[in-house]
Amino acid sequence: MGYPISTRRATRAAGTHAYLRFHQPRPRFAARRSRKDEPLVGNLIELERTTKGYDGADTRALGPLTLTVEAGEALAVTGPSGSGKSTLLNLIAGLDKPTSGTVTVAGRRIERLGEQALARYRRERIGMVFQFFNLLDDLTVADNVLLPAQLAGMPRAKAAARTSELLETLGIERYAHAYPGRLSGGERQRVAIARALVNRPALLLADEPTGALDTASGQDVRELLVELHRGGQTIVLVTHDLALAEACASRTVHLVDGHVASDQRAELTR
Ligand SMILES: Nc1ncnc2c1ncn2[C@@H]1O[C@H](COP(=O)(O)OP(=O)(O)OP(=O)(O)O)[C@@H](O)[C@H]1O
Ligand SMILES: [Mg+2]
Repeated sequence: MGYPISTRRATRAAGTHAYLRFHQPRPRFAARRSRKDEPLVGNLIELERTTKGYDGADTRALGPLTLTVEAGEALAVTGPSGSGKSTLLNLIAGLDKPTSGTVTVAGRRIERLGEQALARYRRERIGMVFQFFNLLDDLTVADNVLLPAQLAGMPRAKAAARTSELLETLGIERYAHAYPGRLSGGERQRVAIARALVNRPALLLADEPTGALDTASGQDVRELLVELHRGGQTIVLVTHDLALAEACASRTVHLVDGHVASDQRAELTR
Protein backbone atom coordinates (compact mmCIF):
# COMPACT_ATOMS: atom_id res chain seq x y z
CA MET A 1 0.00 0.00 0.00
CA GLY A 2 1.25 3.48 -0.81
CA TYR A 3 1.91 6.06 1.82
CA PRO A 4 -1.17 7.80 3.04
CA ILE A 5 -0.92 11.31 1.63
CA SER A 6 -0.79 14.07 4.21
CA THR A 7 -3.94 16.14 4.38
CA ARG A 8 -1.66 19.16 4.04
CA ARG A 9 -0.31 17.91 0.76
CA ALA A 10 -3.78 17.15 -0.52
CA THR A 11 -4.88 20.58 0.69
CA ARG A 12 -2.01 22.33 -1.08
CA ALA A 13 -3.03 20.68 -4.30
CA ALA A 14 -6.69 21.67 -3.87
CA GLY A 15 -7.69 24.35 -6.31
CA THR A 16 -5.20 23.07 -8.86
CA HIS A 17 -6.97 19.86 -9.75
CA ALA A 18 -10.61 19.45 -10.67
CA TYR A 19 -10.98 16.31 -8.61
CA LEU A 20 -9.76 17.93 -5.41
CA ARG A 21 -12.04 20.88 -5.94
CA PHE A 22 -14.85 18.33 -6.09
CA HIS A 23 -14.11 17.35 -2.50
CA GLN A 24 -12.46 20.41 -1.01
CA PRO A 25 -13.61 23.71 -2.37
CA ARG A 26 -12.09 25.54 0.59
CA PRO A 27 -8.63 24.28 1.44
CA ARG A 28 -8.29 26.13 4.74
CA PHE A 29 -10.67 23.81 6.58
CA ALA A 30 -9.54 20.40 7.81
CA ALA A 31 -11.46 17.28 6.84
CA ARG A 32 -14.06 16.13 9.30
CA ARG A 33 -14.83 12.63 10.39
CA SER A 34 -17.76 10.91 8.65
CA ARG A 35 -20.98 10.31 10.43
CA LYS A 36 -22.33 6.79 10.47
CA ASP A 37 -24.55 6.30 7.47
CA GLU A 38 -28.16 5.47 8.06
CA PRO A 39 -29.63 2.81 5.77
CA LEU A 40 -31.51 4.39 2.90
CA VAL A 41 -34.88 3.25 1.72
CA GLY A 42 -37.43 4.79 -0.64
CA ASN A 43 -36.53 7.79 -2.74
CA LEU A 44 -32.88 8.65 -2.71
CA ILE A 45 -33.20 11.54 -5.15
CA GLU A 46 -36.15 13.89 -5.56
CA LEU A 47 -36.22 16.78 -7.98
CA GLU A 48 -39.30 18.95 -7.77
CA ARG A 49 -39.99 21.43 -10.58
CA THR A 50 -36.27 21.95 -10.87
CA THR A 51 -34.90 24.32 -13.48
CA LYS A 52 -31.46 25.48 -14.48
CA GLY A 53 -30.84 28.44 -16.74
CA TYR A 54 -27.59 30.17 -17.55
CA ASP A 55 -27.17 33.93 -17.74
CA GLY A 56 -27.33 35.12 -21.31
CA ALA A 57 -28.89 31.92 -22.66
CA ASP A 58 -32.32 32.22 -24.29
CA THR A 59 -33.51 28.79 -23.26
CA ARG A 60 -33.25 26.82 -20.05
CA ALA A 61 -30.58 24.14 -19.88
CA LEU A 62 -32.93 21.98 -17.81
CA GLY A 63 -36.52 21.70 -16.68
CA PRO A 64 -38.84 22.26 -15.15
CA LEU A 65 -38.10 18.69 -14.19
CA THR A 66 -39.77 16.49 -11.58
CA LEU A 67 -38.01 13.19 -11.09
CA THR A 68 -37.51 10.67 -8.30
CA VAL A 69 -34.92 7.92 -8.11
CA GLU A 70 -35.27 5.13 -5.57
CA ALA A 71 -32.41 3.65 -3.58
CA GLY A 72 -31.06 0.66 -5.51
CA GLU A 73 -32.07 1.90 -8.95
CA ALA A 74 -29.56 2.16 -11.77
CA LEU A 75 -30.78 5.08 -13.84
CA ALA A 76 -29.34 5.85 -17.25
CA VAL A 77 -29.88 9.39 -18.50
CA THR A 78 -29.66 9.57 -22.28
CA GLY A 79 -30.36 12.30 -24.80
CA PRO A 80 -28.71 14.34 -27.52
CA SER A 81 -25.82 16.68 -26.90
CA GLY A 82 -26.99 19.77 -25.06
CA SER A 83 -30.15 18.12 -23.71
CA GLY A 84 -29.17 18.78 -20.08
CA LYS A 85 -27.70 15.44 -18.97
CA SER A 86 -24.57 16.83 -17.34
CA THR A 87 -26.54 19.73 -15.93
CA LEU A 88 -28.83 17.23 -14.19
CA LEU A 89 -25.89 15.26 -12.81
CA ASN A 90 -24.17 18.42 -11.56
CA LEU A 91 -27.33 19.50 -9.72
CA ILE A 92 -27.54 16.11 -8.00
CA ALA A 93 -23.83 16.25 -7.10
CA GLY A 94 -24.29 19.75 -5.69
CA LEU A 95 -21.71 21.07 -8.15
CA ASP A 96 -24.29 23.51 -9.40
CA LYS A 97 -27.40 25.19 -7.95
CA PRO A 98 -30.79 25.09 -9.61
CA THR A 99 -32.32 28.38 -10.79
CA SER A 100 -35.61 27.29 -9.19
CA GLY A 101 -37.16 24.19 -7.67
CA THR A 102 -35.62 21.72 -5.26
CA VAL A 103 -33.00 18.96 -5.26
CA THR A 104 -33.35 16.53 -2.35
CA VAL A 105 -30.85 13.69 -1.91
CA ALA A 106 -31.09 11.25 1.01
CA GLY A 107 -33.55 13.60 2.68
CA ARG A 108 -31.34 16.69 2.43
CA ARG A 109 -32.15 19.80 0.46
CA ILE A 110 -28.96 20.06 -1.55
CA GLU A 111 -29.72 23.43 -3.11
CA ARG A 112 -29.82 25.00 0.35
CA LEU A 113 -26.42 23.78 1.50
CA GLY A 114 -23.42 26.09 1.77
CA GLU A 115 -20.00 25.32 0.30
CA GLN A 116 -18.73 23.45 3.36
CA ALA A 117 -21.81 21.30 3.76
CA LEU A 118 -21.76 20.57 0.02
CA ALA A 119 -18.14 19.45 0.09
CA ARG A 120 -18.97 17.19 2.98
CA TYR A 121 -22.08 15.89 1.21
CA ARG A 122 -19.97 14.99 -1.83
CA ARG A 123 -17.32 13.32 0.28
CA GLU A 124 -19.75 11.24 2.29
CA ARG A 125 -22.64 10.54 -0.06
CA ILE A 126 -21.46 10.81 -3.63
CA GLY A 127 -18.93 8.94 -5.73
CA MET A 128 -18.35 10.46 -9.13
CA VAL A 129 -16.79 9.03 -12.25
CA PHE A 130 -15.87 11.30 -15.14
CA GLN A 131 -15.32 10.67 -18.83
CA PHE A 132 -11.62 11.55 -18.62
CA PHE A 133 -10.92 9.83 -15.28
CA ASN A 134 -9.65 12.93 -13.43
CA LEU A 135 -6.96 10.95 -11.63
CA LEU A 136 -4.04 12.74 -9.97
CA ASP A 137 -1.06 11.75 -12.10
CA ASP A 138 1.59 12.34 -9.45
CA LEU A 139 -0.07 10.02 -6.94
CA THR A 140 0.05 6.24 -7.22
CA VAL A 141 -3.07 4.26 -8.01
CA ALA A 142 -3.46 3.29 -4.34
CA ASP A 143 -3.03 6.89 -3.17
CA ASN A 144 -5.58 8.11 -5.70
CA VAL A 145 -8.12 5.68 -4.25
CA LEU A 146 -7.11 6.42 -0.68
CA LEU A 147 -7.35 10.19 -0.99
CA PRO A 148 -11.12 10.71 -0.58
CA ALA A 149 -11.11 8.32 2.40
CA GLN A 150 -8.42 10.42 4.04
CA LEU A 151 -10.25 13.63 3.24
CA ALA A 152 -13.32 12.13 4.92
CA GLY A 153 -11.25 11.39 8.02
CA MET A 154 -11.27 7.60 7.73
CA PRO A 155 -8.57 6.10 9.98
CA ARG A 156 -5.47 5.24 7.93
CA ALA A 157 -5.47 1.50 8.53
CA LYS A 158 -9.12 1.26 7.62
CA ALA A 159 -8.65 3.40 4.50
CA ALA A 160 -5.69 1.27 3.42
CA ALA A 161 -7.67 -1.94 3.94
CA ARG A 162 -10.63 -0.56 2.04
CA THR A 163 -8.35 0.52 -0.82
CA SER A 164 -6.73 -2.93 -1.08
CA GLU A 165 -10.13 -4.57 -1.06
CA LEU A 166 -11.40 -2.34 -3.87
CA LEU A 167 -8.29 -2.69 -6.02
CA GLU A 168 -8.62 -6.42 -5.72
CA THR A 169 -12.34 -6.47 -6.48
CA LEU A 170 -11.75 -4.32 -9.56
CA GLY A 171 -8.80 -6.44 -10.69
CA ILE A 172 -6.19 -3.68 -10.52
CA GLU A 173 -4.29 -4.60 -7.36
CA ARG A 174 -1.13 -5.21 -9.37
CA TYR A 175 -1.06 -1.52 -10.26
CA ALA A 176 -1.36 -0.30 -6.66
CA HIS A 177 2.10 1.29 -6.71
CA ALA A 178 2.07 2.36 -10.34
CA TYR A 179 1.26 5.87 -11.51
CA PRO A 180 -1.90 6.33 -13.57
CA GLY A 181 0.12 7.54 -16.58
CA ARG A 182 1.23 4.04 -17.44
CA LEU A 183 -2.24 2.48 -17.28
CA SER A 184 -4.61 1.98 -20.19
CA GLY A 185 -7.82 3.98 -20.38
CA GLY A 186 -9.91 1.07 -19.13
CA GLU A 187 -7.57 0.50 -16.19
CA ARG A 188 -7.63 4.19 -15.32
CA GLN A 189 -11.39 4.17 -15.33
CA ARG A 190 -11.35 1.22 -12.94
CA VAL A 191 -9.11 3.21 -10.62
CA ALA A 192 -11.55 6.10 -10.86
CA ILE A 193 -14.43 3.77 -9.99
CA ALA A 194 -12.49 2.38 -7.00
CA ARG A 195 -11.87 5.96 -5.85
CA ALA A 196 -15.56 6.80 -6.27
CA LEU A 197 -16.53 3.84 -4.08
CA VAL A 198 -13.96 4.16 -1.31
CA ASN A 199 -16.27 6.05 1.06
CA ARG A 200 -19.20 3.71 0.33
CA PRO A 201 -21.31 6.44 -1.26
CA ALA A 202 -25.08 6.22 -1.22
CA LEU A 203 -24.98 7.33 -4.82
CA LEU A 204 -22.60 6.66 -7.68
CA LEU A 205 -22.74 9.27 -10.44
CA ALA A 206 -21.06 8.69 -13.78
CA ASP A 207 -20.87 11.09 -16.73
CA GLU A 208 -20.02 9.23 -19.94
CA PRO A 209 -17.81 6.69 -18.13
CA THR A 210 -17.10 4.79 -21.34
CA GLY A 211 -16.93 7.88 -23.56
CA ALA A 212 -13.14 7.84 -23.83
CA LEU A 213 -12.67 4.07 -23.92
CA ASP A 214 -12.20 1.54 -26.71
CA THR A 215 -14.86 -1.14 -27.14
CA ALA A 216 -13.19 -3.80 -24.98
CA SER A 217 -12.42 -1.44 -22.07
CA GLY A 218 -15.89 0.01 -22.37
CA GLN A 219 -17.26 -3.49 -22.02
CA ASP A 220 -15.21 -4.04 -18.82
CA VAL A 221 -16.53 -0.87 -17.27
CA ARG A 222 -20.04 -1.82 -18.33
CA GLU A 223 -19.76 -5.20 -16.59
CA LEU A 224 -18.40 -3.53 -13.51
CA LEU A 225 -21.37 -1.18 -13.32
CA VAL A 226 -23.76 -4.11 -13.75
CA GLU A 227 -22.05 -5.89 -10.84
CA LEU A 228 -22.28 -2.81 -8.66
CA HIS A 229 -25.96 -2.42 -9.39
CA ARG A 230 -26.55 -6.09 -8.57
CA GLY A 231 -24.80 -5.45 -5.27
CA GLY A 232 -27.39 -2.77 -4.47
CA GLN A 233 -25.46 0.36 -5.44
CA THR A 234 -27.67 3.23 -6.60
CA ILE A 235 -26.26 4.59 -9.84
CA VAL A 236 -27.10 7.55 -12.06
CA LEU A 237 -25.28 7.23 -15.32
CA VAL A 238 -25.21 9.77 -18.14
CA THR A 239 -24.44 8.28 -21.51
CA HIS A 240 -24.76 8.60 -25.26
CA ASP A 241 -24.09 4.89 -25.41
CA LEU A 242 -27.43 3.12 -25.68
CA ALA A 243 -25.78 -0.28 -25.28
CA LEU A 244 -24.34 0.87 -21.97
CA ALA A 245 -27.75 2.14 -20.86
CA GLU A 246 -29.41 -1.10 -21.85
CA ALA A 247 -26.79 -3.28 -20.17
CA CYS A 248 -26.48 -1.40 -16.88
CA ALA A 249 -29.69 0.40 -16.20
CA SER A 250 -32.88 -0.69 -14.52
CA ARG A 251 -34.46 2.49 -15.85
CA THR A 252 -33.71 4.91 -18.68
CA VAL A 253 -34.74 8.55 -18.74
CA HIS A 254 -34.36 10.20 -22.13
CA LEU A 255 -33.95 13.96 -22.09
CA VAL A 256 -34.73 16.27 -24.98
CA ASP A 257 -34.22 20.03 -24.57
CA GLY A 258 -34.04 19.71 -20.79
CA HIS A 259 -37.28 17.77 -20.46
CA VAL A 260 -38.06 14.10 -19.89
CA ALA A 261 -39.13 12.72 -23.27
CA SER A 262 -39.43 9.14 -22.00
CA ASP A 263 -38.93 7.26 -18.75
CA GLN A 264 -38.76 3.48 -19.08
CA ARG A 265 -38.10 0.65 -16.67
CA ALA A 266 -35.97 -2.18 -18.02
CA GLU A 267 -38.78 -4.75 -17.59
CA LEU A 268 -40.84 -2.79 -20.06
CA THR A 269 -38.13 -2.43 -22.67
CA ARG A 270 -36.72 -5.94 -22.65
N1 LIG B 1 -21.70 26.94 -17.98
C1 LIG B 1 -22.62 27.09 -18.91
N2 LIG B 1 -22.95 28.30 -19.39
C2 LIG B 1 -23.90 28.46 -20.33
N3 LIG B 1 -24.59 27.45 -20.88
C3 LIG B 1 -24.30 26.22 -20.46
C4 LIG B 1 -23.30 25.96 -19.46
N4 LIG B 1 -23.25 24.62 -19.24
C5 LIG B 1 -24.16 24.08 -20.05
N5 LIG B 1 -24.79 25.03 -20.80
C6 LIG B 1 -25.85 24.81 -21.78
O1 LIG B 1 -26.86 24.04 -21.17
C7 LIG B 1 -27.39 23.08 -22.06
C8 LIG B 1 -27.29 21.69 -21.49
O2 LIG B 1 -25.90 21.36 -21.35
P1 LIG B 1 -25.38 19.97 -20.78
O3 LIG B 1 -23.92 20.12 -20.65
O4 LIG B 1 -26.16 19.62 -19.58
O5 LIG B 1 -25.74 19.00 -21.99
P2 LIG B 1 -25.41 17.45 -22.15
O6 LIG B 1 -26.70 16.77 -22.40
O7 LIG B 1 -24.58 16.98 -21.02
O8 LIG B 1 -24.57 17.46 -23.51
P3 LIG B 1 -23.34 16.52 -23.97
O9 LIG B 1 -23.96 15.22 -24.37
O10 LIG B 1 -22.77 17.25 -25.14
O11 LIG B 1 -22.38 16.39 -22.83
C9 LIG B 1 -26.63 23.25 -23.37
O12 LIG B 1 -27.40 24.05 -24.23
C10 LIG B 1 -25.37 23.97 -22.94
O13 LIG B 1 -24.87 24.76 -23.99
MG1 LIG C 1 -22.60 16.27 -20.87
